[in-house]
Amino acid sequence: EKGGYDYFMLKEIVEQPRAVADTLLGRVTTDGALHLDEMRLTPEQLRTVEKIVIIACGTSYHAGLIAKYAIEHWCRVPCEVEVASEFRYRDPILDQQTLVIAISQSGESMDTLMAVRYAREQRAQVLAICNVNGSTIPREADGVLYTHAGPEVGVAATKTFLTQLAACYLIGLYLAQVRGLKYGDEINTLIGQLATMPEQVEQVLDTVDPVRKLAHSLADQSTVLFLGRHVGYPVALEGALKLKELAYMHAEAFAAGELKHGPIALIEEGLPVVVVVPSPEGRSVLHDKIVSNIQEVRARGARTIVIAEKGDEAVRPYSDVLIEIPAVPTLLQPIVSTIPMQVFACELALAKGNDVDQPRNLAKSVTVE
Ligand code: F6R
Repeated sequence: EKGGYDYFMLKEIVEQPRAVADTLLGRVTTDGALHLDEMRLTPEQLRTVEKIVIIACGTSYHAGLIAKYAIEHWCRVPCEVEVASEFRYRDPILDQQTLVIAISQSGESMDTLMAVRYAREQRAQVLAICNVNGSTIPREADGVLYTHAGPEVGVAATKTFLTQLAACYLIGLYLAQVRGLKYGDEINTLIGQLATMPEQVEQVLDTVDPVRKLAHSLADQSTVLFLGRHVGYPVALEGALKLKELAYMHAEAFAAGELKHGPIALIEEGLPVVVVVPSPEGRSVLHDKIVSNIQEVRARGARTIVIAEKGDEAVRPYSDVLIEIPAVPTLLQPIVSTIPMQVFACELALAKGNDVDQPRNLAKSVTVE
């Protein structure tokens, strides 16, 4: 059942093009229309939304952080993201005009479920993004969008994360459409681009081999740092989480702009620093800033591992290792930039002899608070 792979995780990583295609199937049509009626939230309900609050844990929380960038930009609706375990303990402000989006692969995480119950008590509308059909969270929510990634056996979330992103983009674009907006043309173009993401994912998987070698060469390191800006920041957080849970290594992610406010003191000779670089196109200021962040850490001895769009020549001189990913719109980039992170963590863990399907101390679904 591992389809010829030694571990489910390896199989689940390569299944990602199919998984993302399945999330989009029937929801994005060739004429650029979105069909999300199954969500059970009507366009009228969605038009009344004044605030969005995303709650989730772990990797699902990282999907939520990315969704915030997309939703606020496309829909101009304020969007907060919070780890589910913190949510109900701080007296959050919710009402009928609040749309709470609960993201959970298993649909059973107790932290997320309790946050969903709390949100419903406060009369917010709750939309779940889940993978497991008929699980508790979608049953208790007002509406659900299933990711249809198929069963994920490896404890570390891989294909379910990419499909959560696809589902978040669908919801963001749909909200933008039903609310009728200033970015009408951009939305239509993006719907078309979202539909091509399975091919882009395939392309990354075809070119990710050097990451394997790199991971094996770093098996003796004690720390790896990750840096990102904009949507690259949650991707960096996800890269660090994967490395902790699989390789049992100290891994930490920072918003690259925060470096100078403290973390740069950690940089020392030979320290591997993985940097997620946003697309150079259209966001040149952001791009320039991260190029200087790469220079700053490299000047202090870091070994820079740079994940950047193919053709981004500005980063090449400062990259000890350059990992190229296809050019896609910035907000969609996490779907492709996450993949080298997954492969990196998985291979590094394998190099250390760890069981990547069953990392120590972890369970696939966390049903205690
Ligand atoms: C990390 C991982 C966990 C889960 C988290 C939430 O690889 O798998 O961090 O993402 O426990 O689980 P769900 O999405 O099932 O609520």
